[in-house]
Amino acid sequence: MITNHKIEQLKQTITLLADGNWHKGPELASKLDVSRAYVWKLLQELQEFGLSFESVSGKGYRLTQALQLLDQESLQQQLAEIEVEPHLQLLTDSTNLQLKEQGFAHQKLVIAEYQSQGRGRRGRSWVSPIASNLYWSYGWRTQMPVQQLGGLSLIVGLALVEALENNGLNDLTLKWPNDLRYHGKKVGGILVELSGDASGDLKVIIGVGVNVQMEQTLGESIEQDWTSISEVCRAQALEPISRQQLLVAMVKQLQQNLSKFESEGFSPFVDAWKKVDESFGQAVTILQPEQELKGVGAGVDANGAFLLQTQEQLETIYAGEVSLRIST
Ligand code: BTN
Repeated sequence: MITNHKIEQLKQTITLLADGNWHKGPELASKLDVSRAYVWKLLQELQEFGLSFESVSGKGYRLTQALQLLDQESLQQQLAEIEVEPHLQLLTDSTNLQLKEQGFAHQKLVIAEYQSQGRGRRGRSWVSPIASNLYWSYGWRTQMPVQQLGGLSLIVGLALVEALENNGLNDLTLKWPNDLRYHGKKVGGILVELSGDASGDLKVIIGVGVNVQMEQTLGESIEQDWTSISEVCRAQALEPISRQQLLVAMVKQLQQNLSKFESEGFSPFVDAWKKVDESFGQAVTILQPEQELKGVGAGVDANGAFLLQTQEQLETIYAGEVSLRIST
């Protein structure tokens, strides 16, 4: 169990190093009011959470890339107008788990700088190094019956793309049902978890992970090709965008999409989906537990179900235990 005092020390250490410049051990020790040996201990711990830094004798320590921690107070200010209450933590197991176990509430936003047990779809883990990406979970209480929620993760994906586009990024795509991608590489994912009454009054946890400035070495265990927002910015000659700005833009757009979805269902989103649908017209394989279906992606229906044109017929694929592979 890490004490609050220790968490404060870890935060302060990151903040002191955040500019990406060299900082000498004695300088850090005096600013943190600890011994030099203890500075080293804090840095070792941060390294275990995925912080990358260099250390050179005579020069001290510097982060391999500059960063900025998310800030609870300004998040609160920026999200107050849409009545979202952010709960920012430095370290957690999983923001989805936290929202589930620590008092689910409508429009509650749980954010973490690091997850020790970040969870992905189909039992995978979600690589969540400290202070480099975005990990958040949003609580949404709805009276929509569960059968109408097929398009939910799609409208969340659309919110992410729209928020990124509003910040000047282009060419982001979605792979049904909910992978955010860029040029065939995964940038983000969505994990929706439901509980409550299936006929209405559902508690929905919308978990979002977006790679923002994750270093290549930290993502080595990821099984699929991946990239990050900072790479997309570099490729498109854009200035890097702060994680805080992206987070706020995404949550605002998500809230808009959710209220439209709740009143009108998925059909108003079909056109937007068409524009970013990576599988449209592509040869794809749908992997289901008991069978494999091959065909060509033919978009989605008015409920967000995937349409697969096989040699025989147009198949409708519902979300669930399916995996979609785009043949290259
Ligand atoms: C996927 O497999 O593509 C879904 C990944 C979802 C990851 C996010 S990170 C924040 C939230 N908390 C978790 O434990 N998982 C989701």
